[in-house]
Amino acid sequence: MFALSEDIQQIRDLARDFARAEILPGAGDRDKSHAFPAELVAQLAEMGFLGMFVPEEYGGAGLNMLAYVAALEEVSYADASVGVIMSVQNSLAGWPILKFGTHEQKLKYLTPLATGERLGCYALTEPEAGSDAGGQKTKATPVEGGYRLNGSKVFITNGPQAEITVTYGNLDPASHYKGVCAFITESSYPGYSVGKIEDKHGITSSGTSELVFEDMFVPAENMLLGERDGFKVAMATLDGGRIGIAAQALGIAQRSLDLAVAYANERKTFGKPLSKHQAIQFKIADMATRIEASRLLVWKAAATKDAGQRASELCSMAKVFASETANFCAYEAMQIHGGYGYSREYEVERLTRDARITTIYEGTSEIQRLVIAKGVLS
Ligand code: CAA
Repeated sequence: MFALSEDIQQIRDLARDFARAEILPGAGDRDKSHAFPAELVAQLAEMGFLGMFVPEEYGGAGLNMLAYVAALEEVSYADASVGVIMSVQNSLAGWPILKFGTHEQKLKYLTPLATGERLGCYALTEPEAGSDAGGQKTKATPVEGGYRLNGSKVFITNGPQAEITVTYGNLDPASHYKGVCAFITESSYPGYSVGKIEDKHGITSSGTSELVFEDMFVPAENMLLGERDGFKVAMATLDGGRIGIAAQALGIAQRSLDLAVAYANERKTFGKPLSKHQAIQFKIADMATRIEASRLLVWKAAATKDAGQRASELCSMAKVFASETANFCAYEAMQIHGGYGYSREYEVERLTRDARITTIYEGTSEIQRLVIAKGVLS
């Protein structure tokens, strides 16, 4: 599989045209103001980009994971902040409800997520449960008709804006991941509140916050899958989420390369353009090669998910390789730009900051390597 089908190419072109015309021009200003791109999110929703692999009967575009990563790369090329909002909505909020939800849950929650009527988020990470995601301390206590949740979540992308949350609680924190349950919760529930808003290094116009649950009642019908099945929901969801972040990273990497090429052709040193110096050519060659390899991995992981197969190792390979490529390419693009690249006037400066998170969230590079090694060695 070396080329996208014509249908998917059309989706990618649609995303590319929209991203370059509408998203890219304001990305620098939003980076400085940290303004949430609400208008752009609404436009993405109209295009069907917030429920890309959700069937039409639930308000989605009825496409697949491959179409999703192709579009997400283009959106992230223009602005990785908009990219992560789209990624979380599709992969982390929508996908677990699509995969594990009942028909009623899908009607009630997946449809408004897919149409973009409501924004979603994924509340897994806790102050003491990041890489060790099984160590959930948010307590889920069974009560008449449902559960009460007490605890807090941190670093939640879309946290300040989200109205629908895929939330994890633990019936028995002492039993580690074996007590974890997955719930769909609403920001309107009494006891739900948005805590500290993060002031971040990059992707500054996406919202990231703490979420606090104080004796929050969740009806029993809002559980995803069964009691104590939550960790599997979390891990299976993150497989797909990691492909989304890999696609986001790919967009950052490609933008870095394109800016580096344009600058190298224009800027002259020692009487000739930078692009005529072998030192610069080698950098460009390495960037292009890593991007090509990343894209193939991302497409293969997405196509494997589309075929209905579990693809944990491939998803982790795509994520670790593409995210490290994004950091490499943004770094080299800044290096090629020299002092100008270090100035906030130049887009490559933002790209170095936006790239940084991609090796951290949805599982650090170290966690991806653990997942890959476990698969290879088993
Ligand atoms: N799919 C389905 N089930 C899975 C699975 C998967 N991908 N991975 C593991 N499981 C199952 C296992 O089969 C096992 O099941 P059994 O009990 O039946 O044997 C169970 O889950 C436990 O698996 P492990 O023993 O591998 O669990 P672990 O405690 O060692 O943890 C880990 C594994 C890979 C380190 C995991 O904790 C992990 O992925 N950590 C990183 C967390 C992470 O990525 N957080 C991101 C937060 S979200 C975010 O960042 C969003 C954002 O802002 C954009």
